[in-house]
This record gives sequence, structure tokens and C-alpha cells, in this order.
Amino acid sequence: MAGLFITLEGGDGSGKTTQAGLLESWLVGEGRRVVRTREPGGTDLGLELRQIVLHRRGHIAPRAEALLYAADRAHHVETLVRPALERGEVVLQDRYIDSSVAYQGAGRVLGGDEVRALSRWAVEGLEPDLTVLLDLDEQLGRRRLDAGRTTWDRLEAEASEFHAAVRRAYLAIADAEPGRFLVVDASRPVDDIAAEVRARVAALLDAA
Ligand code: TYD
Repeated sequence: MAGLFITLEGGDGSGKTTQAGLLESWLVGEGRRVVRTREPGGTDLGLELRQIVLHRRGHIAPRAEALLYAADRAHHVETLVRPALERGEVVLQDRYIDSSVAYQGAGRVLGGDEVRALSRWAVEGLEPDLTVLLDLDEQLGRRRLDAGRTTWDRLEAEASEFHAAVRRAYLAIADAEPGRFLVVDASRPVDDIAAEVRARVAALLDAA
């Protein structure tokens, strides 16, 4: 495959969308063809699955939830991501398998390894060339999302525990695969982060 597959990961409020936009502009300026996409919801079918998995009222069994994300991913990779890579393009993707491992694994019902195995099967083993992890204290992330709020109720405190577990899971994945990951401190200024990400991507492009 001639293209480059770059994924962005991190908790809610970590700035993935901002960084993806800046990296996309730079890549386009360098003359690269870029496909910017996301999971869940990078395809028509994916948008329907996204609606179910993120907005459906009521309980979804953990295994069903993991399968819904994996179904979105399977269709997305086969119909959009792999063809773009085969055309030699850069795929810049918000969230991928690591999101499933970190979020579904952090729910404590499923193990990270089985969640990863399911997704690997779904995408026939397609791995990113680079994963940028925007690492941020979960409370900072939440404060960014709902700026101005100072009090949290019990459910929100539980949510905070969950997001702390997600963050730990991400850092453990990055530790286990240092070659694939660029871990950046997402509390730093936006432009500093963008410069660090660009430097790493430039090195990858030079090596290709
Ligand atoms: P989204 O609105 O795209 O949020 P963000 O801007 O934080 O990316 O929602 C995606 C949510 O879905 C996010 O809370 C993480 C979750 N998610 C999983 O739990 N598992 C997955 O495999 C993926 C791709 C996302």
C-alpha cells in the first residue's frame, strides 16, 4: 500500500478535530491528497450505526456495543479507507481501533485484548502507520467541553472515573507500541502541538 494511514486518538475535549484540521491544511499545502474521516460514522451505513451507538436511548449490551463499533469500522475500512490508501492518498482519521480498546475496555466488562481482536478481524488487520495520542487530564478535557461549570453531580463524577480509565488505557496501548505512537501533551498551545505532529508526519513522508 502506497498511502499513509494516520489516526488521531484521545479523550473527549482533547482537541483531535482542531489538530486534524491543521494537519490536513499542511498536507494539502505539501501537495498531498488527503481523505479526512472519522469513526463512528465515516460512511452512510456508519452514520446509521453512529446514531444507534451514540444516541439510542436505553441500554446496549457491552458485546453488542463492541460489535456495532466493529461493524462501522469493517464497512468504513473496506469501502473508504483501504481504497484511498491503495490510491496512494493520506487518510487522516479521527478515532480507530484504539478507541474501542480504550473505551469498551475501560467499561470493565470486556477485556482490551478481545476488543482489539474483534476489530482486527473486522478490518483484516489494517494498522495505522502513525497514531497521534492527544493526552489530556480528563478533568481538563471536560472543563474544555463545558467551560464555566464548576459543580459535578454523582453521575458526572462516575463519568470522570470512566474517562480517567480511558486515559490510562490509551497510555498503556501507546507504551506497548511506541513505534506506532506519537504521544503529545494536549494541554500545550495548539500551534506547538501542531508543529510536533507535522514534524513526525514529515519524517514519515520523507521515509516513504
Ligand atoms: P464523537 O462525537 O465522535 O466524539 P469525539 O469528538 O470525542 O471523537 O463521539 C465518539 C464517541 O464514541 C466517543 O465518546 C468515543 C466513543 N467511541 C467508542 O467508545 N468506541 C469506538 O470504537 C469509537 C470509534 C468511539
